[in-house]
Amino acid sequence: MDYLEVNASAVPIQLLLEADPSEQNIASYLDGAWCFAAKLDGKIAGACVAKAISNNTAEIFNIAVYPQFQQQGLGSGLLRFALGELKNKNMQRVELSTGTFGYQLTYYQRHGFRVDRVVKNHFLDHYPEPIFENGMQHQDALRLYVVFKW
Ligand SMILES: CC(C)(COP(=O)(O)OP(=O)(O)OC[C@H]1O[C@@H](n2cnc3c(N)ncnc32)[C@H](O)[C@@H]1OP(=O)(O)O)[C@@H](O)C(=O)NCCC(=O)NCCS
Repeated sequence: MDYLEVNASAVPIQLLLEADPSEQNIASYLDGAWCFAAKLDGKIAGACVAKAISNNTAEIFNIAVYPQFQQQGLGSGLLRFALGELKNKNMQRVELSTGTFGYQLTYYQRHGFRVDRVVKNHFLDHYPEPIFENGMQHQDALRLYVVFKW
């Protein structure tokens, strides 16, 4: 497994759609973003897209691993790598939006993220189609953050 920074153009859109079903949303943050990838046998198996939103704060807009490679530790390695790289780029804080339920919330919290606030109706207002997980519709989002102390 190799973790490295790659060009935005190298990241397959199909992979990013695993985390964000809106191609329009993806296009809005991919341009000029920092992209980190997990490669297996030279091929991208996971990717993380982040961007500075102020002098010292970055936002993770997308993190995804192809379904056949999920639950094998790859996503945890990728998130750890991406956070380390963002710190190397002098970011002090990283933020992201995620659903109010689901394993992703646990995943981020295991990596030190804390809840900042609830964004009411986020998934209703920003996505044309309803988003379901475990038979439940995502409506509100949680805004999470981590501040580097290491
Ligand atoms: C979120 C994601 C990037 C994590 O990558 P991964 O390679 O599966 O991550 P890991 O194998 O390191 O697992 C991380 C944790 O998520 C859990 N997990 C991953 N996929 C899961 C699934 N489908 N169902 C339940 N738990 C799952 C793992 O069990 C692990 O939990 P633990 O830390 O309590 O042991 C990946 O699952 C993914 O691409 N999901 C779809 C896109 C997505 O939801 N992106 C995040 C948007 S908010």
